[in-house]
Amino acid sequence: MKPQPALNWPTENIHVRRFVQEIVELCEPSEVHFCDGSEDEDRRLLEQMVQRGTLKPLNPKLRPNSYLALSDPKDVARVEDRTFVCSQDAVSAGPNNNWRDPSEMREKMQPLFKGSMRGRTLYVVPFCMGPLASPYSIIGVEISDSPYVAINMKRMTRMGQAVWQKLGTESTDFVRCVHTVGAPLADDQVDVAWPCNAEKYIVHYPETREIWSFGSGYGGNALLGKKCLALRIASTMGREQGWLAEHMLILGVENPQGEKMYVTAAFPSACGKTNFAMLRPPKAFAGWKITTVGDDIAWLRVGEDGRMYAINPESGFFGVAPGTSVSTNPICMETIQRDTIFTNVAMTEDGDVWWEGMTGEKPARLTDWQGQEWTPDCGRLAAHPNSRFTVSMKQCPSLDSDFENAKGVPISAIIFGGRRAQLVPLVTELESWTAGVYFGATLASETTAAAAGATGVVRRDPLAMLPFCGYDMGSYFKHWLSFDRKDVKLPAVFGVNWFRRDENGKFLWPGYSENMRVLEWIFRRVKGQAKGRPQALGTAPGFEDLNWQGLEAFSAAAFVELNKIDHPAWQAELKEHREFLSRFGENLPHQLMAHQESLNHKLIDGEP
Ligand code: GTP
Ligand code: SPV
Ligand code: MN
Repeated sequence: MKPQPALNWPTENIHVRRFVQEIVELCEPSEVHFCDGSEDEDRRLLEQMVQRGTLKPLNPKLRPNSYLALSDPKDVARVEDRTFVCSQDAVSAGPNNNWRDPSEMREKMQPLFKGSMRGRTLYVVPFCMGPLASPYSIIGVEISDSPYVAINMKRMTRMGQAVWQKLGTESTDFVRCVHTVGAPLADDQVDVAWPCNAEKYIVHYPETREIWSFGSGYGGNALLGKKCLALRIASTMGREQGWLAEHMLILGVENPQGEKMYVTAAFPSACGKTNFAMLRPPKAFAGWKITTVGDDIAWLRVGEDGRMYAINPESGFFGVAPGTSVSTNPICMETIQRDTIFTNVAMTEDGDVWWEGMTGEKPARLTDWQGQEWTPDCGRLAAHPNSRFTVSMKQCPSLDSDFENAKGVPISAIIFGGRRAQLVPLVTELESWTAGVYFGATLASETTAAAAGATGVVRRDPLAMLPFCGYDMGSYFKHWLSFDRKDVKLPAVFGVNWFRRDENGKFLWPGYSENMRVLEWIFRRVKGQAKGRPQALGTAPGFEDLNWQGLEAFSAAAFVELNKIDHPAWQAELKEHREFLSRFGENLPHQLMAHQESLNHKLIDGEP
């Protein structure tokens, strides 16, 4: 039996100490390092990872202080079928989660974690989701044997010494997160660049607020503050405490007169949140400003004045690289110009990064995301479709001045948007909170060539939360509906779809910065200054209600196509909604089915 590594406690907190002690005994690491979040520590970790081959430094002239990590090809994305919610009873996890009995799961995890960190350093990563000064923030302590996790958590969260101070010496109020790549090293064994295990488990215990993750080092599987804490655990806390944890971006929009409002938008994964959160208005919108509060997660609560306020629990971006370019998202390209960790993108001959869609012309020669030589005609993608960048929000030129506001920012509108090639119009204002929740509950995204499996398959993703809601969907819908009460001044709700296509498969809407035209209409609608026309789903702008300056080529006829509601097709769509929603059984709120019925009547009555 080896002696236990020495522990230099950075906190007096007895509950933290017990937790760390327990995991050290279980996982048997050879060293323990308490992260302090300093620049010095960051530099040392980066250097070590370069030496071990996990990170490749990029050309400091082209991409200062930036690194590339290439993962194991079997560890490239969240693993939803290996994600479990272990609440006391199955019913409260709902059909939307993989449920396992918590004591059975603990028994299963015990031997997997036993000795799982042998030969490795155990990092204790204290982090705060939300501004350090905010009473709404939640503290987590992630124990991980991955230095990649430590450096990513520094960029994605408020990580380090200040968190111990905020927690104090007595509090038990922190989420326990345990993560191992599941690849213990024997005494003389040489490590690989990206250790992981073929077997993976992402396990949540909502009642005891614990997260146990085994076998993966990638993204939401390993950076446990993100989807595991800030969505799955936080959604269950929000239900108990009367607030909402959502898969939403938050942005500020200011008109040339200096009037400003904030909106949130829920789009499923890889459906354009980062793009929209950093939107740069087209030239014709001189004087309009878009500012970024968050690109992935929002926590919403009702303030003393009855309005909804949002904070972004994160402080960094873990964004999709492919498709990001100077033309699609110039602000993002500026953000990732330096001090960025790239994962699974390609490297150019001069030591910079590249991915599909970054430039019009493909480089003649690259090293692809698997470290292989790549040429444009080789028939393979250079970057993995889920390749990502990790970068602190501090580097974002459009960062909102109230990003650190402890109370959050007041929300005037909520937008729901899926990825639908057909049926769903460009933009609709929903007539009521219930209509908004119904639109959200029936949101869907179609699989693209980027995702595994067949393309064009409609995947329902209620409120963009299907993989992230820590309890049963029916109760989650009820929780949303419960905000419709006298003391709450509800935001307006809109539905959008940037992805409608014509019969040749061409996008009907230019998207990206041109989405500003839709956002401007939303802004003016909220102020009561924009006209719209009633149609079956809600209120839509007529051609003349949008600002077309700078996009004069877009015809009124094309706009009609883009906003058309095909009544018979929509009646068939409602049948699919019914089938999908009925999955949630008894807990499905009756208001949603009542809304569906009235929608159906409108579609029948309005039939041409
Ligand atoms: P997660 O980080 O996975 O939650 O995703 P996200 O919603 O932040 O996705 P992101 O903004 O990274 O967008 C992913 C893809 O959508 C990229 O390929 C973009 O090019 C594409 N995209 C974003 N906005 C638009 C748009 O307005 N129109 C079209 N056609 N594509 C868009
Ligand atoms: C998503 O899948 O919605 C993400 C990426 O934002 S990950 O953090 O890996 O879940
Ligand atoms: Mn996301």
